[in-house]
Amino acid sequence: MRHAVYPGTFDPITLGHLDIVGRACAVFDRVTIAVLVNPRKQPSMDLDTRLAVIRASLGELAQGADRIDVLSFGGLTVDLARRLSAGSIVRGLRAISDFESELQMAQLNRRLAPDIDTVFFMTGIEHAYVSSTMVREIAALGGDVSSMVPNEVLRHLRP
Ligand code: PNS
Repeated sequence: MRHAVYPGTFDPITLGHLDIVGRACAVFDRVTIAVLVNPRKQPSMDLDTRLAVIRASLGELAQGADRIDVLSFGGLTVDLARRLSAGSIVRGLRAISDFESELQMAQLNRRLAPDIDTVFFMTGIEHAYVSSTMVREIAALGGDVSSMVPNEVLRHLRP
């Protein structure tokens, strides 16, 4: 079985993330969305809310939702992948600017776990400039982010 872990902060999940999940589902038999518990970051959406919002948002996928798990994790992504017997880590690329940091992470993860590969999917161009950080900022200032996030997220964003 081809199983991939898709790690991230997802604060909040965007339509770009969901696009990556859908593309990963077309390639992998099982995809685990893994939300990092990062004690150094103060997320705007608490962990339970982020998990619930992601689970509810999977309904917006055209197919594959029944092959997706959502969980939280601490520690190294490669350790999680090993625990789950997942052979791949999925990450999304929006633009060339993502590449350098993603390359560094993929190379370091490979150093830690040579048997686990990172697989990149390109977001649709309509999501290329969407980030969780910008979504939070626009929403906090009263802007319309309805074309950037799943419907479930809209209900949880502060106006
Ligand atoms: O959504 P993000 O914030 O870009 O996701 C970053 C994430 C969670 C993928 C990255 O910080 C991560 O993998 N953290 C877990 C700790 C770890 O494995 N660090 C080594 C990566 S080289």
